[in-house]
Amino acid sequence: MDWKWQERYILGHAPMDATHQEFITRVKALAEAGDETALAELERLIAHTQAHFAQENHWMEESAFPPLHCHVGEHQRVLASMASVRSMANKGRPALGRTLALELPAWFENHAATMDAALAQHMRHVGYVPVNVEDLAAEKTAA
Ligand SMILES: [Fe+2]
Ligand SMILES: [Fe+2]
Repeated sequence: MDWKWQERYILGHAPMDATHQEFITRVKALAEAGDETALAELERLIAHTQAHFAQENHWMEESAFPPLHCHVGEHQRVLASMASVRSMANKGRPALGRTLALELPAWFENHAATMDAALAQHMRHVGYVPVNVEDLAAEKTAA
């Protein structure tokens, strides 16, 4: 798959940018997977995307992002699509994971440039210092 991280994807929010780089890595791995590894790559992409969206949803709540419902709703639609692809892939159609991966760059281009860019700008504007969801999990384990 001819898709890579590009300068225009940088939204100036380091944890978000790092997560988006990893998203591209996971999508590429799925797009390039063979039938025998496609299911495992699909699972990895879904796990990564759940964490990616949970982190942004958390930031939106904490920073009182005005269009929260619109952005969260789009995350939910993508996760629902991924879940239905997983269910069909598990029923003997592993190649559907690759089809999904080929749709995701166009979705990401649009989502990152609009909803994620707006969230990054909002967090900067209100001076919200995000707490990473992974850090929260680590704190809970430590407590
Ligand atoms: Fe994002
Ligand atoms: Fe998002």
